[in-house]
Amino acid sequence: MKVLVVGSGGREHALCWAIKKSPKCKELFSAPGNAGIAQIAECADIAVDDINGLVSFAKSKNIDFVVVGPEIPLVAGLVDRLNAAGIMAFGPNAAAAELEGSKIFMKDLCAKYGIPTGKYEYFDDCDAAKEYLIRNRPPIVVKADGLAAGKGVILCRNENEAFAAIDHIISERAFGAAGDRVVIEEFLHGEEASFFALVDGEHAIPLVTAQDHKAVNDGDEGPNTGGMGAYTPAPVVDAAMSQRIMDEIITPTVKAMAAEGRPYKGVLFAGIMISENGPKVLEFNVRFGDPECQAMMLRLKSDILEALHACATGKLKKVKLDWHDETALVVVMATKGYPGFYEKGSEIRGLDKVNGSDDVHVFHAGTREDAGRIIANGGRVLGVTALGSNVAKAQKRAYQTVDGIDWPEGFCRRDIGWRAINR
Ligand code: AMP
Ligand code: GLY
Repeated sequence: MKVLVVGSGGREHALCWAIKKSPKCKELFSAPGNAGIAQIAECADIAVDDINGLVSFAKSKNIDFVVVGPEIPLVAGLVDRLNAAGIMAFGPNAAAAELEGSKIFMKDLCAKYGIPTGKYEYFDDCDAAKEYLIRNRPPIVVKADGLAAGKGVILCRNENEAFAAIDHIISERAFGAAGDRVVIEEFLHGEEASFFALVDGEHAIPLVTAQDHKAVNDGDEGPNTGGMGAYTPAPVVDAAMSQRIMDEIITPTVKAMAAEGRPYKGVLFAGIMISENGPKVLEFNVRFGDPECQAMMLRLKSDILEALHACATGKLKKVKLDWHDETALVVVMATKGYPGFYEKGSEIRGLDKVNGSDDVHVFHAGTREDAGRIIANGGRVLGVTALGSNVAKAQKRAYQTVDGIDWPEGFCRRDIGWRAINR
């Protein structure tokens, strides 16, 4: 197969790395890719939201199979457009990608089909939203309806914060049209985990569980980022909890989407709160997690390309995936300043000395190559990923690798995995 991977993050580097190992992969392309991906695939400089450009490129290269990494092209209908051009693709079509594209769609689906999630209401009017807060006291969560690059969720401890969040989203239009409506949601308590399943429209198979660290600083302090590290498996999700999540959340969601005439194909990523009253959905994402995917790919023993293709062609029933029992942990190295302002253009040295084993891999995110040098070109820049017999050992190995990378302009958290290690 000629395969195209769409995206430029650590997630897409990990997917390319895993796909490249498949005997079925004859040629590998990526758009737009990054410096790490360019070492194993041919990259084309096409942005992930340039749907016409991506479809033309796939046609011009006679691509057999497209794997779409990020949510933006999925919500924008890239898979629909590729399928219309006769090209098979992994990921939901636009109608199914609404699960991530609209929080109101997702909450209404859960309500209609009895899928456990927090109590909620939605509004397009500031006054009505604030009036609701008088009857439903904080702590409470205010969310922009549409895609907001992970920033559209505001946890409010008191009424002032909640009022400010509503103004920020609806009146100040902080997230543009994504904030035409807000969801106000019950604050759920418990421990969070990420659950991933492959879905072919009808059948779902669980992948593995993970936990990520969204806050920028040690101790889970400071502003939220796209994710500063993750590990898999998540110790909070034991086999019994995993089965409950399949039975109470994943399978009912797959059935609900089919019943709505929007059969879901792709990876279904459920953000779950393990609460006193059982698992509840915080959100659905229609893609792999970043950086969870980097850790997951290091644990996967089976052929990922076969599995993704079976998923896209409705043949998931035949697939069985094998995983290393070990823990995989990823530490994200970011440019100093991230998630606020940061400078691009610093050089990263020493990468050639740290890569190359099956147990440790440094995935690239925001990097570019310049005359043989690797240059930081974004906020999240590297995902240093390691396997170990437990979380502590995987963590130690990952940080040993981090310490071998010479990049004074970068930083990372030093406590990825603390929650699991303290259990
Ligand atoms: P989301 O993008 O919806 O997953 O929200 C981002 C983060 O906000 C989640 O990972 C949770 O940590 C937190 N969050 C979202 N919804 C809730 C909720 N209803 N209660 C408590 N925390 C939440
Ligand atoms: N790491 C969380 C996400 O990909 O949404």
